[in-house]
Amino acid sequence: MSKAIVITGASSGIGKAAATFFHQKGWNVVATMRNPEKETDLKEDERMKLFKLDVMDKSSIAEAVQKSIAAFGKIDVWVNNAGYGAFGPLEAGTDEQIRRQYDVNFFGVIDCIKAILPHFKANRAGVIINVTSIGGLLTLPLFGVYNSSKFALEGLSEGLWFDLQQFGIKVKVIEPGGIKTDFAGRSLDQFDQSEFPEYENYSKIIAEKFTDPDYAKNFGSPEMVAGVIYTAATDNKTTLRYLAGKDAKQFWFLRRWFGYKFQMGMAKRYMGI
Ligand SMILES: NC(=O)c1ccc[n+]([C@@H]2O[C@H](COP(=O)([O-])OP(=O)(O)OC[C@H]3O[C@@H](n4cnc5c(N)ncnc54)[C@H](OP(=O)(O)O)[C@@H]3O)[C@@H](O)[C@H]2O)c1
Repeated sequence: MSKAIVITGASSGIGKAAATFFHQKGWNVVATMRNPEKETDLKEDERMKLFKLDVMDKSSIAEAVQKSIAAFGKIDVWVNNAGYGAFGPLEAGTDEQIRRQYDVNFFGVIDCIKAILPHFKANRAGVIINVTSIGGLLTLPLFGVYNSSKFALEGLSEGLWFDLQQFGIKVKVIEPGGIKTDFAGRSLDQFDQSEFPEYENYSKIIAEKFTDPDYAKNFGSPEMVAGVIYTAATDNKTTLRYLAGKDAKQFWFLRRWFGYKFQMGMAKRYMGI
């Protein structure tokens, strides 16, 4: 019997690539998104369902869980992929923007995990895969709010790794580096800095670096990350962490073997700040 996977944030980027990848591998796929009625790339068939799920709306999470189980009987893997980046100096972010970052990237994941856990516990099986980021292990300038939401998700995942093994449930994190998706485009929530001109020059230098084609040329593809998610879903190992992408592996190598001072110093010099 085919296995079944549920993916959040499958309307674009990594989530969409993962939905396509697992479908091609013969899995039953529930691609969840905020507006399934607008989806044109992914097509429903007997192994692909498009259900509404907004991670900020608990009732939509509960409904998606119930419809997924009704569609495929048993869910084997749940991927918490939905997320986005807030960008800018902390002071320039409104309370609403900062809280929303955590509501989507962190509390939304908690609500999804709580919703699928009874099913996984009843089956005494299941894999929870949280898409964090290399930015969940180290930070980049002006990404502190985003990175801290992913640090929180890393910590939560480590805790759950211990707590859920007794029920046969595996917890895993995927840590991508830079990936060519809508992340840096329509999904980026840039803080309005007009009231904080003292950051103008600093922000300009960093924004120029992030938008330099030379910086983005080594970014990985969402299909590459989908392959890493597939490995995590199927390797039957209790491995917690899966770095995805050359840059993520390089950053982590520096941090791990040379320490945070050295790695942060290198990042500072590289950014020109
Ligand atoms: N791209 C990178 O460089 C990179 C690197 C490391 C980690 N990541 C992580 O990878 C994950 C996927 O991002 P991506 O790169 O694929 O970017 P993306 O193409 O912008 O996709 C983000 C997805 O999250 C969804 N989303 C946003 N808010 C949501 C909400 N409230 N409820 C449900 N879905 C919501 C978006 O849905 P809509 O279409 O409705 O907006 C979209 O499907 C994120 O968690 C991101 O932090 C990305």
